[in-house]
Amino acid sequence: METSRLDSINRRKFIQIMGAGGVVLAAQPLVGCAGNEGSNSAPDQPWHVAGSGYSDPLRRALSYAILAPNPHNRQPWLVDLNSQNLTIDLYCDQSRKLPDTDPFDRQILIGLGCFSELLTMAAMEDGYKVDAEWFPQGTSEAKVDNRLVAKFRFIKSNVSSDPLFKQILARRSSRIPFDTEKGVKTETLQDLVSGLGDVQFTNQPSRVKALRKITTDAITVELNTDSAWYESVHLTRIGNSEVAANPDGISLGGTMMGMLKLFGMMSREKMMDRNSTAFKQGLQMQVDQMQATPSYVWVTTSANTRRDQLNAGQQYVRMNMKAAELGLLVHPVSQSLQEYSEMAELYKQVHKELNATGNQRVQMLARIGYGEASQPSPRWPLDSRIRNS
Ligand SMILES: Cc1cc2nc3c(=O)[nH]c(=O)nc-3n(C[C@H](O)[C@H](O)[C@H](O)COP(=O)(O)O)c2cc1C
Repeated sequence: METSRLDSINRRKFIQIMGAGGVVLAAQPLVGCAGNEGSNSAPDQPWHVAGSGYSDPLRRALSYAILAPNPHNRQPWLVDLNSQNLTIDLYCDQSRKLPDTDPFDRQILIGLGCFSELLTMAAMEDGYKVDAEWFPQGTSEAKVDNRLVAKFRFIKSNVSSDPLFKQILARRSSRIPFDTEKGVKTETLQDLVSGLGDVQFTNQPSRVKALRKITTDAITVELNTDSAWYESVHLTRIGNSEVAANPDGISLGGTMMGMLKLFGMMSREKMMDRNSTAFKQGLQMQVDQMQATPSYVWVTTSANTRRDQLNAGQQYVRMNMKAAELGLLVHPVSQSLQEYSEMAELYKQVHKELNATGNQRVQMLARIGYGEASQPSPRWPLDSRIRNS
C-alpha cells in the first residue's frame, strides 16, 4: 500500500470536502493501512501473500480463491480441508448472506462460482486438475443452506496453466465514473467476452442510454428502500479502524473517512437519514458513475438453477480478469437484477432491454470503461475461512 500517496489524496479530498461544507462518500473504497489502528494484519494483506509461504497445495490455491469478487465483499466461503486426500469441501457461510438484497442467495452463489473458478485456475498453475462435485447433498431453490456447495478433488496431472491466472492479483471492481471521452471499441468487447458463451455486451449509444437510465433508477430505488439500503449501511465500514476490524462489506477506509467520522460528518446514522448531506451526496455520486458509462456487459443464463448461478460466476470472473488484461475497468451494477418487490418493475425492464425471455435470467450486469485502477479491496485472512484449521 502506498501510504504517502493515499495520505496526500486523502488530505486533498478532505480539504475540498471541508471547504465545500459537505460530506462525500468516497468513490473508491480506500483500504486502511497495516496495523495503523489496532488490527492484527492489513486488510489488503491476503493480496500480498497469495501463493507464497504455503507448502500445502490446497492452501496455496485457496489463498488465491479468497480474492474472488463477491457481493458486498461478504466473502461467503467457508471450507474444510483434507490435505491427505487432497479434497476441499466448500460451504456457504450462513452468517454472510444478504437476505434483503439477495433473498434467494442467488448473488451469494455467483460469488461462490467466482471463488471456484479462481481455485481451479490456481490449482492448475500448480499442476493439479480439479474435479468438482456440485451440491453432493442436494440443494434448495429457496436458500443456499448449510449443505455442501461443492467437493473439490485435486488430482496431480499434466494440466497447462490458464492464461488468465496472471490477472488474479490485478482484477478489481471499479466504482468510479469512467472516461466518457474514450469509448470501448467493438473489437475490444468481442475479445473481452470471447469463449464466454453466456456473456454479452453493448456499446451501442441507444442501448447504453437505456441501460444508464435503468441502472440510475435502480440505484435510486435501492437507496430509497429501507430494508435494502439499511442492509448495506450496516455493512459499511467507515474509516481505517473499522475496515481493519472487519475487512469485508462496503469499505470506506482512508484517513479522510476517519476524519469525517471523527467530526461527526459521516456515520451510519447520517447515511440512513435521507435528508442528510451524506445520503444525498452518496446517491449523487452513484448516479454520476452510472451516467459515465460507455459500455456494458452482462451474463444471461438459459435458466436460473443453482448450477446456472455458479456458472454465471465462473464466466463473470473470467470476463473481469480478461478486462484487467485489456486495461478495462469493470463495475457490477446489480440493483435492477435483485428480487425484492420494490425492484420488480426495473427487473422487468432490464430483462426486456437485454432480450432475456422465457426462463432466461440476467445474472450479472456491469459497466465497462476506462479509468484509473483502484486499490485492492479488503479480505479476511485465509485461516479465518478454514473451518477445520
Ligand atoms: C454477484 C455480485 C454482485 C455484485 N454487485 C455489485 C454492485 O451492485 N455494485 C458494486 O459496486 N459491486 C458489486 N459487486 C462487486 C463486489 O462488491 C466486489 O467484488 C467486492 O466488493 C470485492 O471487491 P473486488 O471485486 O474489487 O475484489 C458484485 C459482485 C458480485 C460477485
